[in-house]
Amino acid sequence: MDSPSQKGAGKKKINEVKTFPVPFPLEKNQGNLTINSKSPSKPSKEQIISQAIRFHEQGKIIEATKYYQYCLNHDFNDPIVFLNYGTILRSIGKLKKAEIFIRKAINIDPNLQDVHFKLGVVLNELNRPKEAIKYFLYESYTSLDNTKKSFYISNFLSENYQTIFDKEDIKYLLNILIKKDNISHDILFNIFNQLYDLEKILDDKEKKLLLHDQLISKSLERMIFTSQRWENFLRKIREEICSILANGSRVLINSESNFLISLAHQCFINEYVYYCTNKELNYIKIIINKMNKGEKNKDLIFVLACYYPLYKLIELIPCIKSFKSTEIKINNLLKLQIGDRKQEIELSKRLKKLGNINDEISKKVMTQYENRPFPSWRNIFDIDKLKKYADQKINDEINPNIISPNFKSKKLKVLIAGCGTGQQVLLAKEYKNSEITGIELSSSSLSYAQRKFNELGINNIKLIQMDILELSLLKEKFDLIESIGVLHHMKSPEEGLKALLEVLKINGFLKLGLYSKKARGTIQAARDYIESRNIEVNEKNIRKFRMSIFNGDLPEFKSFIQEPLFYTVSGVEDLCFHTQEWQFNLFEIQQMIETNKLDFKGFLLPQSIKSLYAKYFPEDKTQTNLQNWARFEEKHPSTFAGMYNFWVSKTKI
Ligand SMILES: C[S@@+](CC[C@H](N)C(=O)[O-])C[C@H]1O[C@@H](n2cnc3c(N)ncnc32)[C@H](O)[C@@H]1O
Repeated sequence: MDSPSQKGAGKKKINEVKTFPVPFPLEKNQGNLTINSKSPSKPSKEQIISQAIRFHEQGKIIEATKYYQYCLNHDFNDPIVFLNYGTILRSIGKLKKAEIFIRKAINIDPNLQDVHFKLGVVLNELNRPKEAIKYFLYESYTSLDNTKKSFYISNFLSENYQTIFDKEDIKYLLNILIKKDNISHDILFNIFNQLYDLEKILDDKEKKLLLHDQLISKSLERMIFTSQRWENFLRKIREEICSILANGSRVLINSESNFLISLAHQCFINEYVYYCTNKELNYIKIIINKMNKGEKNKDLIFVLACYYPLYKLIELIPCIKSFKSTEIKINNLLKLQIGDRKQEIELSKRLKKLGNINDEISKKVMTQYENRPFPSWRNIFDIDKLKKYADQKINDEINPNIISPNFKSKKLKVLIAGCGTGQQVLLAKEYKNSEITGIELSSSSLSYAQRKFNELGINNIKLIQMDILELSLLKEKFDLIESIGVLHHMKSPEEGLKALLEVLKINGFLKLGLYSKKARGTIQAARDYIESRNIEVNEKNIRKFRMSIFNGDLPEFKSFIQEPLFYTVSGVEDLCFHTQEWQFNLFEIQQMIETNKLDFKGFLLPQSIKSLYAKYFPEDKTQTNLQNWARFEEKHPSTFAGMYNFWVSKTKI
């Protein structure tokens, strides 16, 4: 929103405008501007506007403001000037005034790039979402190519209850956003779930109509459905179709067949987390028999793909291998369930490996993530467009504390230790001028990451299969290290930390994510339940465990139903079946920091929590007092429900 607009000036005459004081120390004489120009004559209107925009682009907001005000005071009537001045007013919180100026820009040139979007943002910030959506819609009719815009709009929709909007408007926008490839599936599902609220669709006939809805089909292919109601509905449909095909009671109509393909996508991306009844297992046997006896019906393949990934069935049902189609929808399914896996196997053969994985716990953890790479992700926001210098990014995260190292002059070496399936690596691309290395135990996680990078055309990230304990073999030191959700899965987190610090440069920064004992009370109870009953970790038991929670047999764990991780197999495993898990309290974290002579720089937490903390402890201006935070957590035990995510620096060693 803050970047200035640059297109050519508008033409229509507009009414007189009044500039508003902007709280910057402006020079007194606004009439005397010097413009960088070779010409000795008075600068032209165009030159003044260009200079204003140049200052704005360079982040010289005071100078830019002075020039915009000059233009406004001299009746230049240029839409860009109105828009950019409005943008500056918005950035300093003068929203009503920003609205006036951006509306002037629209009046002069309704086709000006970004103008509707920017007005939508201001209206949203003025708490007028119903008006804002009109401008977002207008923007999307023309173009929604900018990643930042689609990201903003998807968050806007996700946060504002659909009930206040027209359903058709949401459908229109969701249809566009779904194609974007860069919006995470939880945000998308949040919008979807508000649009198709199954609680309100009680009638079975009405529910059946959903099978013909194209947006639902597309959504099944794009996002993980993290709702119990949807899961129940989809399981029922899956069982019904499976029974029809096994019994050969009728052929499927086209729309059912299409829905089945989309459902197969969904079942694959949720890693076949849905519970499967004995009846269904019998149907599956019958279907496999039919296929091996030569029955040619592509729906049989699609329904099986709702229960098992097709790459696993190729040996058992050889005709799948020769199955070909010219339909894009079918080919997308074959790519997802066979092609991608083949690629990952090939990529895993070419992975760089370093050292050995000898530690017994590392071996166990590796096996877990070899079997089920985690996290499984589909889309990611194109962070490349948001590049920031590391100090700026860290400062945003540790706010209100501030660090001021100089990260601008050299290439920044960044290590992501325990990078999993690569999502965190891509987020690290936000660091400007950086060179990123990801290391990880599991080769399937790394090949998943590499396949995604290839698809996204990213070829400048080094991925290495190795144990954190052997990091010194890299013979490299890093300016920044991130290790989120990793050390607590090692035999000794302390040893893991030492290995990380060995490869962190002096004055380097380390971002850690560690589980909080307090926040994981219910999860620990589930882990105890699983351990005390000797429940073996496998997909069948994970499904059974979920089903007991859905059925109300384990009411003490019903809060998991709201947890997005509960809707993939690897997610449930990570949540409560993990082979190795440590949890910490803030006293232990403080000790760890002191023992290793580190400086605590601050937590990554939502602004609402930091504001509340400031009310309790106004004297802690940097919000870095861990004893205060321990008291805060005592009062608000779910503060660190995700993890303790924080930055430390190695300045003291
Ligand atoms: C919960 S996942 C988190 C992945 C990633 N950091 C993220 O936030 O998306 C933990 C990852 O740490 C890796 N890991 C655990 N112990 C490790 C070790 N000793 N060396 C390297 N990687 C390790 C696991 O293989 C797993 O992929």
